[in-house]
Parts: sequence; C-alpha cells; structure tokens
Amino acid sequence: MDAFVTGPGAGSASAEAPARSAGPASGEAALLPGQATATCADVGKAAVEAGRVAVVGLGYVGLPTALALHASGARVTGMDVSPARLDAIRRRAVDLLPGQYAGLAAALEDEEFLLTDDADAFRDCEAVVICVPTPVTDDAVPDLTELRAACAAVVARARAGQLLLLTSTSYVGTTRDLLVTPLRERGLPPERDVFVAFAPERIDPGNPLHGQERTPRVVGGVGAAATERAAALLARTSPVVHRVDSPETAEMAKLWENTFRAVNIALANELADSCLTLGLEPHAVIHAAATKPYGFMPFYPGPGVGGHCIPCDPHYLRWQLAQRGAATPLLDTAMAAVAARPDTVAARALALLAARKDASRPPRVLLLGVSYKPGVADIRDSPALRIIDVLSANGASVAYTDPYVPTLARGPRVLTAVADPAARTWDLVIVHTRHPGWDLSWVPDSTPVLDPTHQGMPEAVLRS
Ligand SMILES: NC(=O)c1ccc[n+]([C@@H]2O[C@H](COP(=O)([O-])OP(=O)(O)OC[C@H]3O[C@@H](n4cnc5c(N)ncnc54)[C@H](O)[C@@H]3O)[C@@H](O)[C@H]2O)c1
Repeated sequence: MDAFVTGPGAGSASAEAPARSAGPASGEAALLPGQATATCADVGKAAVEAGRVAVVGLGYVGLPTALALHASGARVTGMDVSPARLDAIRRRAVDLLPGQYAGLAAALEDEEFLLTDDADAFRDCEAVVICVPTPVTDDAVPDLTELRAACAAVVARARAGQLLLLTSTSYVGTTRDLLVTPLRERGLPPERDVFVAFAPERIDPGNPLHGQERTPRVVGGVGAAATERAAALLARTSPVVHRVDSPETAEMAKLWENTFRAVNIALANELADSCLTLGLEPHAVIHAAATKPYGFMPFYPGPGVGGHCIPCDPHYLRWQLAQRGAATPLLDTAMAAVAARPDTVAARALALLAARKDASRPPRVLLLGVSYKPGVADIRDSPALRIIDVLSANGASVAYTDPYVPTLARGPRVLTAVADPAARTWDLVIVHTRHPGWDLSWVPDSTPVLDPTHQGMPEAVLRS
C-alpha cells in the first residue's frame, strides 16, 4: 500500500459541530477538582465589572475575546494597529464561527463597543488585555516585534489601579521582561500600583467546541491581588479559571501544552506511516487504541502543521533553553519532523504522478482545502503552501478548491479557487483540509487520491 493513498471519497463524513453552550451565567470563577476554594477579591471584581476593558490586537483570538467580553456585559474598547483590520471588522468581513456574527453585529450596534487604532484609548480602561501575534522568524527564532510594541504602548499609558493582562503565547519571563520591569522603571510598580498577570489564550478559532465559553483559563499574577483581579475578568467569559502562583508558571503551561501537541502530531505522522508500511489502516489502529480509558489521547496524521501556534510556540521554548545551554533533543526532532511533513507529502504526490502514462502535458493536481485547519480561512504557515510550491517547481499544474480561501498568492502568481472541481479531470487529488460539510463523493474512482489525513473515520471520533 502506498503511503497516504486511500480510495476516492474516503473520509466524507460531515464535520458539523454541535450547537454552542451558553457561557457562564455569573462572574464567579469555577474551580478545578482539588483546587483550593477561593473567591475573587470583591474590590477587584467590582472594579473590573464597572470599568472598561481594552483588547489590544483584534485578530483570530483578540476579536472573539472582545466579543465574548462584550457579550458578558463589559464595556469594550478594541484596539488594533491595522486600519485594514478595523475596517474589515466594521464591514463584518472577518473570519468567525457562524454563531459569532450575531455577537459581532450586536457589538457594532452598541455605542459602548469602541474600535480604534489609538493606543491612548487605554487610558480610559480599567483592564487591558494584550493579544498580539508572537510568530517566529524564518530561522525559528521568536519574533517579538509586535509584542514588544504592544507592551510598550500599554506600559507608556498605564495608570494606577489598572489590570494589565498578557495573553499572547511567549517565552517564560515575558510578562516580567515586557511589563513588570518597564512599569517599575516608570514608577508604577506591580503589586503596589498596577495589577499584572499572564493568562494564555487557548481557544481554537474555527472550532465551536473550543471557544471561550467552554475553555478553562490558566492565570498567574504578580501577587495574589493581580491573580484575583485577572481571574475575575476571565471568569466573565470562561467556565473555569485555574490560578497558578506566577506568570511564569502560566507562561510555561502554554508552552507545555503546545509542545505536547507538536510532539504527538509528529508521532502520529510517523506511526501512520508505520501502519502503512505494515499494511494497516492508521485510523482503525488509532480508534482501537483510543478505547483505552487512560494513558492515551488520540492524535491524527496530516499534511503538516500550520497557523501561528504549533509551528511556532515550541520554538519559544527551544530558543530559551538553548540560551541556557539546555538540550531539547526530543523537541528538536519533533519540530524538524513536523516541518518536513509537507515535503514528504509532495514527494509522495510526485511519485504517484511519475506513474502517470500521459506525459504529453503537465500533470493536473487538485488540493482539497488549503487553509491550515478546517473551518477557517487562515493560511498562515499552511502546509498547502509548501506542497503547491514543490509540485509547481516540479512541473505540475496545481489548482485548489477551498470555500474559505477565494484566492491564494504564490510568488508572482495568484491562484483562484476552483469553484466546481467535479467539472474538470485531475491526475491527482490531494486531501489537505476537510472543511465542515464537505462531500468528496464526486471524485471519480479512476482518480488517484492522496490523503495524508487518513480521515476515513467517524465524525464522533474526529471531534471528540
Ligand atoms: N490563532 C490561534 O489559533 C491562537 C490560539 C491560541 C493562542 N494564540 C496566540 O494568541 C496570540 C494572537 O494570535 P492571533 O492568531 O490572534 O494573531 P492574529 O495575527 O490573527 O491577530 C493579531 C492582531 O494584532 C494586531 N496587532 C499587531 N501588533 C499590534 C499592536 N502593537 N497593537 C495593537 N494591535 C496589534 C494585528 O494587526 C492583528 O490584527 C498569539 O500569541 C498566538 O500565539 C493564537
């Protein structure tokens, strides 16, 4: 059996997600089992409830955060340095879950919901939530440009009594380096004048199962009062707030989570290949293993990882530990493996195309889905980009179809999504991203299908 190749139409299960649950009814922070009972400091809770909250950075995470806070009754100021992004939000031309557009409409109709590119707006706010990008450079080194700029803007305008809550994923010690130290230098020491905390963002944009209203938050403040004030704010939108002893513990928790995912995705890819070598169907094996009630969590193979989390976050940890001379061999291997995955898929596609009989014209290849995960338009670091580039460089005529991505720039070319792929013939179809509700039954039996996702699996298992 050739690696990744499945029958046409494999994995055509719908990806409809269940309806969203209502958010928490009160501002009380729920507790995890075993966690000490604690209530939010009344003074902190009252201040946050009465005041205005700024959300800095209105991207995939910041905008849903601002909307969730607005839906909870907070007065919200959304600040973004990009006028184009603010304009898109005002036009409602943004990538949200279907159920979130009503919340956006309600916010835009509320005169208390403010959108601005002016950082001076922070001065009017009781709390400032920082949610700007933390990518890596081409050399896999943390790129802190936007985070430094955002934190500097917040620190410069901070005032006594404010809560400053950092949520962007970053290295351990970021909160102290970019907020606490500069605040002290400004004469506004945390624990005396301002409240500073870190609470990693953990939602899964595009996935209705993991929005704010269902996702527990971890928070660690500089001092107990900051933790409690931040917990009070987070409890407005999250079902559980788990307090930890410091910003550093919260920062490391996020890096641990996504390092865990990266390593397990790399392992799932390798074991899926191993199954194919042994003539076994990977998902049948994963489903069987997943019946074990403890010690196993299913991860699934795919064409690689994308977005600004899994391909980036573990590098923050690697970079920081390398500076201290600490080795991370397992992490290094996993990150190299996930980075190489799109090339593996492209090589397998080229091997399939080499067996084609008609060499009189370039092979026609169709990618199904190009965003990095189902249900979103986000193509940042999508494996599809590399697969398209490698196949094109090797003489293939590559097209794609994706209802979320109407056009795709590749170097000087701009590809346009194929509206009706069934109307054309293809030498190879590559299953890259299976968006919700997709039906692949149109693919003729005679067309080879390369499916690195191996998603011939029940929807219940896929989404569990
Ligand atoms: N996208 C995800 O799935 C996800 C999930 C969990 C955590 N995170 C983390 O959340 C953070 C934000 O990620 P994202 O995906 O929302 O980013 P994004 O690129 O979608 O959006 C970030 C927004 O911040 C704005 N911005 C940049 N610099 C700014 C500044 N100085 N002041 C104000 N606005 C600024 C940008 O214009 C952009 O609109 C990152 O640290 C990321 O790792 C992301």
